[in-house]
Amino acid sequence: MNQPTTPSVADRKRVRVHHLTEAKAAGEKLTMLTAYDGPTARIFDAAGVDMLLVGDSVGDNMLGHANTIPVTVDEMIVAARSVTRAARRALVLVDLPFGSYEASPAQAHATAVRLLKEGGAHAVKIEGGTRVAPHLRLMVESGIPVFGHLGFTPQSENTLGGHRVQGRGDDAAARLLEDALALEEAGACAVVLEMVPGPVAERVSAALAVPTIGIGAGTACDGQVLVWTDMAGMGPWSPRFARRFAEIGAALESAASDYVTAVRSTEFPAPEHTFET
Ligand code: KIV
Repeated sequence: MNQPTTPSVADRKRVRVHHLTEAKAAGEKLTMLTAYDGPTARIFDAAGVDMLLVGDSVGDNMLGHANTIPVTVDEMIVAARSVTRAARRALVLVDLPFGSYEASPAQAHATAVRLLKEGGAHAVKIEGGTRVAPHLRLMVESGIPVFGHLGFTPQSENTLGGHRVQGRGDDAAARLLEDALALEEAGACAVVLEMVPGPVAERVSAALAVPTIGIGAGTACDGQVLVWTDMAGMGPWSPRFARRFAEIGAALESAASDYVTAVRSTEFPAPEHTFET
């Protein structure tokens, strides 16, 4: 008799948290992109992206801040609502922004509850290792799926001394592995690894049953995430670890410039854009 097979994550009508570990066990790579609004969420969802991250990178990518630190819970909720209303298939996870969780597990829990109730999030993400394991555990025990985030954690850029690769050297690599195991033990459903040497990410990925999602962490991770503006070439620069899959910024500028020319020359609106009496 044929054994029933678990469907591939790519065939899922709605991606749920338990599909992530199933995908890892089946050796299927997971995909995640950031999204901060409805139109991009709809497009990425239709493209088959498994997870949409409403990242606090909204701060430096959309809101004009230099980094993620000023982003508020209210701003995350507005972005989360737009994304969750647009996504049909993707699992939507939302970042706990800086200052909204560090003080205690109870503070993290209260913020996560707002992100789920007011933002419609399916899961949340928290930066940090062993230090935030009790926070993560309380949220998970309350029915909130939680992603961890290790390596370069942008909210700590002031203590990490800027955007620097983390986990280099035996001691740092061992600490990273210890942190990842602590998050898994506390109930994390996946762990994002940012700017970590490929061999270190490989060791962490092999040690965890839950998936690792890499950004600048090599190919051995169980999935990949990119900030969508880096992936789509919206700005003049993308980080070294990001491939520009398109040049949308240049295409948009060209479209806007054609529009300006057409309006100034009265070529637009044409008769087909004009109502009859
Ligand atoms: O906020 C974000 O975009 C992130 C990614 C860099 C993983 O946390």
